[in-house]
Amino acid sequence: MLVNATHMLQSAEKGHYGLGAFNTNNLEWAQAILTAAEEEQSPLIIQCSMGAAKYQGGYDVVATIVNHLVKNMNITVPVALHLDHGTYEACFEAMDAGFTSIMYDGSHEETFDINVEHTKELVKLAHQKGLSIEAEVGGIGGTEDGVTGMGEIADPEECKVIADLGVDFLACGIGNIHGLYPANWKGLQFDALAAIKEKVGDLPLVLHGGTGIPEDQVKKAISLGVSKVNVNTDLQVVFAEATRKYIEAGKDQQGKGYDPRKLLAPGKQAIIDRTKELMTEFGSVGKGWE
Ligand code: G3H
Ligand code: ZN
Repeated sequence: MLVNATHMLQSAEKGHYGLGAFNTNNLEWAQAILTAAEEEQSPLIIQCSMGAAKYQGGYDVVATIVNHLVKNMNITVPVALHLDHGTYEACFEAMDAGFTSIMYDGSHEETFDINVEHTKELVKLAHQKGLSIEAEVGGIGGTEDGVTGMGEIADPEECKVIADLGVDFLACGIGNIHGLYPANWKGLQFDALAAIKEKVGDLPLVLHGGTGIPEDQVKKAISLGVSKVNVNTDLQVVFAEATRKYIEAGKDQQGKGYDPRKLLAPGKQAIIDRTKELMTEFGSVGKGWE
């Protein structure tokens, strides 16, 4: 059975470790991420963007896949199914479909007041249903699902306003960017992170754009109050690399190497291996039901 992400993130915040929130794109992705979590006995947030849900046929398809895999794979660690970067409307759809956690990304709304109003309403609804909710202050840079943010640094006062609405965890821009980091990236802004953490107290913070941030910076961010690290592109890159290697070696043309169960196997294994590495880096290995 799926759970919400509140308890697992509060435990991470208290225990000064991070939980990876890994984006799923299809059946193989979900199987691979769940396999890694079970093998490492790590609590898991498996998340899905609006675009990836549309690609898979809808939020209910994603919820069905993840729910049934948890049961049929005998997963023993807690798993939350989280909507990643949801619009106001998408939050309702994901809640109806059986997601156990939502992110309302109001950072793209025209005004901060709209972000506040929507967040307030969605916090109430999510909590009535026993779900957890993440909100966002300060757009994250880069492009995801066609939405481009400018990589703002979140205003600590605005973070405090949103935190006080009762969200369970908060995404804040601290110079992080979605996708691959450009060579001239300045790195995470730790002063900004410390100032935000000071304002929001023990509220778990979320670091988006987890792909390609140097390990020492990720660890420092976790030590300063980041409890959830979002990773999407990283797993896409390792999947593509392993699949390319298989095809370039001509393996799809040997025997029944064209069978998707064979063709996709190296990519799937690469996702498992990389997810396990990241769980070790973030410190969630063995944290199970803590
Ligand atoms: O919300 C999801 C993420 O922030 C993932 O970012 O694709 O750069 O790992 P990434
Ligand atoms: Zn993100």
